[in-house]
Amino acid sequence: MVNPENRMNAIQLQAKSLGIDLDALPSHIAVIMDGNGRWAKKRGLVRLLGHREGYKTLRRVLLDCSELGIQYLTVYAFSSENWRRPQEEVSGLMALIEAAARDELRLMHQNNVRVRVAGRVSEVPQGLQNALHHGIETTRSNSGITFTLAINYGGRAEIVDAVKTLIKQGIDAEQVSEELISANLYNPDIPDPDLMVRTAGEMRWSNFLVWQSSYSELYVTEKSWPEFGTDQLLEGICQYQGRIRKFGAVVDD
Ligand code: FPP
Repeated sequence: MVNPENRMNAIQLQAKSLGIDLDALPSHIAVIMDGNGRWAKKRGLVRLLGHREGYKTLRRVLLDCSELGIQYLTVYAFSSENWRRPQEEVSGLMALIEAAARDELRLMHQNNVRVRVAGRVSEVPQGLQNALHHGIETTRSNSGITFTLAINYGGRAEIVDAVKTLIKQGIDAEQVSEELISANLYNPDIPDPDLMVRTAGEMRWSNFLVWQSSYSELYVTEKSWPEFGTDQLLEGICQYQGRIRKFGAVVDD
């Protein structure tokens, strides 16, 4: 249950004024943070400065989601295909994410955030792995929003990894089921996303949460990730609440 009106925080009041039902928020929001490069190029800046600006947006969105009462936020920080970018951009991004993981840990812990990762994390630089593991361990018992960083993540690779685990366990072909595959994904305890957000207007899903997004509602905004703000977050939630989720069944409207 949501707080009585006089106990609501600023973003809950803003959401309510837009007609958002705070008792029917998406439990899990997943985001493709796209358009950092274009944002920088438009301003004559190097791409890495776009990623830096994107980091500021992410910080705000995490706090917004936490204050609103969203339970899970998952963001696509680095895909398994992003290694194809220029070496300077890749190492700059790795360094930025590592610095963020260290610098933001105190704030996340204070805000009761539980940190998780998804992806083939053993393949990213050791310093980043250490920062992520420290963040996960420090926040393990927190009970607020679960914030998952998808790093060196690919949706198809995640399914391949789950199938490999099943084969190693000696599972018979007849026993393979959707439930068993779900149970062997990177974070089996995290529910599927209710709402998937993509910025910068691209109408594709780019190998993100391929298995988990089958019945997610989609929200695409033209705004680039550095321009994404509370207004767009609430707009996405408004659209989500305006949809009728059928999960393949017939629903009378
Ligand atoms: C896509 O924009 C963005 C990324 C590949 C990286 C996302 C990273 C951040 C938001 C930096 C901060 C992250 C953390 C976890 C601190 P793009 O570069 O593909 O944009 P473009 O399509 O305009 O080139």
